[in-house]
Amino acid sequence: MTESIRTQVGIIGGGPSGLLLSQLLHLWGIDSVVLEKHSRDYVLGRIRAGVLEHSFAELMREAQVGARMDREGQIHEGFFIAHGGVRHRIDLEKLTGGKTVMVYGQTELTRDLYEARDRLGGLVIENAADVRPHDVETAHPYISYRQGDETLRVDCDFVVGCDGYHGVSRQSIPKDRIQTFEKIYPFGWLGVLSRTPPVSAELIYATHERGFALCSLRSATLSRYYVQVPLTDSTDAWSDERFFDELRCRLPPEVATAMITGPSIEKSIAPLRSFVVEPMRYGNLFLAGDAAHIVPPTGARGLNTAASDIYYLYHALVDHYTGGDDSGLESYSSRALARVWKGQRFSWWMTKLLHRFPDDSAYDQSLQHTELDYLFSSERALASLAENYVGLPF
Ligand code: FAD
Ligand code: DHB
Repeated sequence: MTESIRTQVGIIGGGPSGLLLSQLLHLWGIDSVVLEKHSRDYVLGRIRAGVLEHSFAELMREAQVGARMDREGQIHEGFFIAHGGVRHRIDLEKLTGGKTVMVYGQTELTRDLYEARDRLGGLVIENAADVRPHDVETAHPYISYRQGDETLRVDCDFVVGCDGYHGVSRQSIPKDRIQTFEKIYPFGWLGVLSRTPPVSAELIYATHERGFALCSLRSATLSRYYVQVPLTDSTDAWSDERFFDELRCRLPPEVATAMITGPSIEKSIAPLRSFVVEPMRYGNLFLAGDAAHIVPPTGARGLNTAASDIYYLYHALVDHYTGGDDSGLESYSSRALARVWKGQRFSWWMTKLLHRFPDDSAYDQSLQHTELDYLFSSERALASLAENYVGLPF
């Protein structure tokens, strides 16, 4: 016999989106169950985002999971773009009238969310296999999953798909009920985490004829570096020595000289992709975060856009359960998508501005140089960059 759990909101995916939603709903007395395909250790082993926008940090505090972030995270008031061997500082605080970003790793933020769910008795089911949403067109949807030989089900009012780009939620929607928009970039980012002091207190995004590079960090003793690589490359071809030689080569000389290197503790290649699905709802199934949209990482928008979906959806669910008001649920997809597309535009623009595209003509490259020259000659252009980087309002 199939064992069943009853909840109000069934959440597929225990990444940052699913956990944050579950935590926020809990604070409003709304019950949820999170079904995660992998183990918690596996989820916490993935090294991804590092930059949180202003509103996301606020949402973490609202979810009562901001204490460690506020203690250990770093407020960044600016960052650099290096071009032609020269660093240009983008003064985020000045250009946005006081806004900043928070450097705090996705791993740490996810750990804080797991701990909060444990503390408050939230149900997060790990290692849930063959998770599938059912009957989402009806008022009585449910999610089936397997643990060992047992098949179990979660009956709920709503299913929320927070299961990332490769998840089952979006794939369970009939193809003729959604439209997808996609752009694949002909390169990836090779990322290295190393227990070394960061070369710069503020991030450096570097553009170079050999390709893009990024110097980021997690703390005063933990550095995160990236270089643009062809999609055909594998991490095996990149020894630590080769990685740091290539990184130094793409940075201004004074930065390259100052860099302290050490053995990598994580090395991975992420392909770059832009992707949007419309609408972000099918019946009583709602999509949020990477399940509905992907951006190339250049503008640091992915996790931040996931957070804005969660903000809209959590308010919509609270209005439904506390006041019987469904207008937020009705408008969820269009409100979320309006902001998603702005994040897409910015990420595409930053990617185009800073990467070397293999098929670019001399004309394309001259335009790219001109775009950079224009940017650094115009306070208004810089203000637009800064406004997007700290995050547009929810
Ligand atoms: P995910 O983190 O993908 O979580 C989905 C969860 O669902 C996973 O735990 C997965 O195991 C689970 N799952 C999948 N399928 C199933 C299934 N069938 N059943 C049950 N569970 C399932 N964003 C930023 O904002 N700032 C940055 O600086 C930044 N840097 C990045 C750097 C890199 C190298 C990369 C790769 C990404 C970066 N991002 C950044 C993007 C950010 O990491 C993602 O947008 C973010 O992880 C999305 O969170 P999510 O919870 O929606 O999806
Ligand atoms: C990091 C990743 C990004 O995509 C970005 O734009 C900035 C920082 C990081 O992993 O630290």
